[in-house]
Amino acid sequence: MRIAVFASHNGSNFQAIAEACKSGRIKGEVTLLICNNKKSQAIARAKNLGIQFFHVSETLEPNEKKRDKEISSLLNEHNCELAVLAGYMKKLSSAVIDSFNGEIINIHPSLLPKYGGKGMYGLAVHKEVLRNKEYLSGVTVHRVNSEYDKGEILSQQTISICESETPESLAEKARPVEHHLIVQTIKEIIEEKE
Ligand code: GAR
Repeated sequence: MRIAVFASHNGSNFQAIAEACKSGRIKGEVTLLICNNKKSQAIARAKNLGIQFFHVSETLEPNEKKRDKEISSLLNEHNCELAVLAGYMKKLSSAVIDSFNGEIINIHPSLLPKYGGKGMYGLAVHKEVLRNKEYLSGVTVHRVNSEYDKGEILSQQTISICESETPESLAEKARPVEHHLIVQTIKEIIEEKE
């Protein structure tokens, strides 16, 4: 399976997916990284991993329709069958979603449907979880549709919260759980198609 990964910042989930492909745990290949932030650590990771990357951003192309077309063309030209939003802090437009024949999934750092929606990303999610005094959080992998974090849930894993938890410590705890869950879910998607 040819996989496209979208990322904006750190790119640790991108790396986990790419390494799982290289080791053969996932029967797939990350054929490209699409990134909206040229300073992203994900781009440095792509260079190290020898994966092609493309910077698509408002700075480079202010016209949204043209940007969407660029993303759609990249997915189609690389014959991608799966697109993974792994810490991609932009909403994928309906135009891109509709033009893509493959599956699109996203990893989110909460137990959706809780703590999803516009503005709910990264540390903001963990802050909100702690503000509400939750004792359990987790991560979710779901299909992407045109609404924020509303697509069908494919997999979830819980994380317990301790009394001294901070948003940063919760993000730290979530990271390995995310890496495991995204790799496992992609593996299952591919196995279902075989
Ligand atoms: C991850 O925690 C991911 O769940 C989150 O961004 C982080 C990216 O980490 N995504 C969202 O909040 C999307 N709503 P990474 O760059 O190290 O893979």
